[in-house]
Amino acid sequence: MTGSVPAIRTICCIGAGYVGGPTMAVIADRCPGIQVTVVDLNAERIAAWNDPDLSRLPVYEPGLDAVVGRCRGRNLFFSTEVEAAIAAADMVFLSVNTPTKTKGLGAGQASDLRWVEASARSVAAHARGHTIVVEKSTLPVRTAATVQAILQAAQGDATATHDQATFSVLSNPEFLAEGTAIADLEQPDRVLIGGDDPQAIEALASVYAHWVPQERILRTNLWSSELSKLTANAFLAQRISSINSIAAFCESTGAEVGEVARAIGTDSRIGPKFLQAGPGFGGSCFQKDILNLVYLCGHYGLHEVAAYWQSVVDLNTWQQHRIARLVVNNLFGTVTGKRLAVLGFAFKADTNDTREAPAIRICRDLLEEGAELAIHDPKVAPEQISRDLGSAPSASGSGLTGEGSWQVAASVEEAVRGADAALILTEWQVFRELPWADLAAQMRQPAWVFDARAVVDPEVVRSAGLRLWRVGDGRIG
Ligand code: UDX
Ligand code: UDX
Repeated sequence: MTGSVPAIRTICCIGAGYVGGPTMAVIADRCPGIQVTVVDLNAERIAAWNDPDLSRLPVYEPGLDAVVGRCRGRNLFFSTEVEAAIAAADMVFLSVNTPTKTKGLGAGQASDLRWVEASARSVAAHARGHTIVVEKSTLPVRTAATVQAILQAAQGDATATHDQATFSVLSNPEFLAEGTAIADLEQPDRVLIGGDDPQAIEALASVYAHWVPQERILRTNLWSSELSKLTANAFLAQRISSINSIAAFCESTGAEVGEVARAIGTDSRIGPKFLQAGPGFGGSCFQKDILNLVYLCGHYGLHEVAAYWQSVVDLNTWQQHRIARLVVNNLFGTVTGKRLAVLGFAFKADTNDTREAPAIRICRDLLEEGAELAIHDPKVAPEQISRDLGSAPSASGSGLTGEGSWQVAASVEEAVRGADAALILTEWQVFRELPWADLAAQMRQPAWVFDARAVVDPEVVRSAGLRLWRVGDGRIG
């Protein structure tokens, strides 16, 4: 690299998922002078991003349709032409998935980097001129060294076909949360850029500077940047496991976790956010990133540190099994052949994403107990539920066979009809305002509401003649 900051006119993003799609849409929206192309191997997904009907984008995210509507076809493009988009790009973002490995070395903990490596090789093969490669995916610390090694090999290899390709690698982790992605991208707390090439760092900073104040653009080195993302997610997840541990304790002691959270949240050192007790954290990142941290700590011989972070995941898993168990216990010790309305399947409200959703483990436990589940979620597709539960829906139910079965309900009313209990597993706004007196009349008595998100008004539920369990609420029972 020479001394000047390269101007960025064309961006390519590999991976049109929950991160790549919304992030690139906002960059295109805020930088009309930059042409942004998002590529993906999955042709169906690209077709969905190009669907003229904006309500059918593959990612549901409030406000995303408006942003895509403004830029698509102007300076935002979705394509399967990976090679051409790389060749044309001044800057390539890697936003492919990095799931936990399911087999081989580090299975169950380490991140599977096969797609990151394949993308880096693709960039190495097709880039032209100087290309800044930006890690957007969350990655294990020092992954940039792998990416750099692959790119350098191509550089060393430079022939006429490479048009003297040269590379700089940056880490630019994404901190957006699903459901609030557009707001998080438009007004980020901070943008983090890690690298060892100051011109490349400034080139990326100049893209964000179109809308992010300079003081919110943090520059650092590569490894600190990569590790900051894992650490941020580990700290956030740890808060949830902490409050969920206290929730269980509240239920045993007559305290109420919402009150405890309110009291500790006013301490400015603790702060009020991320203290909502619930069925445990889900989502594509928290568990994966902590397991990755655990794996890396083990690799470096820091076994106590690894065990400390592992306990955050263990508590989360325990919370989900605990909820399934208490449903069974309260329903006279058996749910075999009983209809249970499951309200919410997404891992949180305002998304259609179900990755690591607490509903999956809780439903699986209840199916194991022989329950007949009627699942209603405002945004999750039935095919997704089928993939997550590993079984097809059954209209006829399983009766007392003990097999367990599930079906999708088109509405809350349909889900609770004839049910012994309603379980609230996602905090969708509509579940906060349900007409419990009307719903109770449809249920088989004695009927229960198990509110794993603390969204119902206990008075309304109880005056409807329903029994209630609310996460972390030891005052009722
Ligand atoms: C992913 C990672 O899970 C996360 O760690 C990271 O922070 C950002 O990228 P997400 O966008 O939610 O998050 O993943 P996903 O929705 O699965 O999207 C990844 C996309 O990459 C998929 O559409 C997949 O088809 C595509 N992909 C994957 C490629 O285009 N090429 C590949 O080689 C591999
Ligand atoms: C998270 C991080 O917030 C984000 O910065 C990172 O880039 C990706 O991972 P996301 O998984 O989209 O984002 O959602 P988040 O809002 O963090 O919620 C994660 C899980 O924690 C959800 O299941 C949510 O319901 C749960 N949660 C969150 C709680 O149970 N209680 C809380 O107080 C907050």
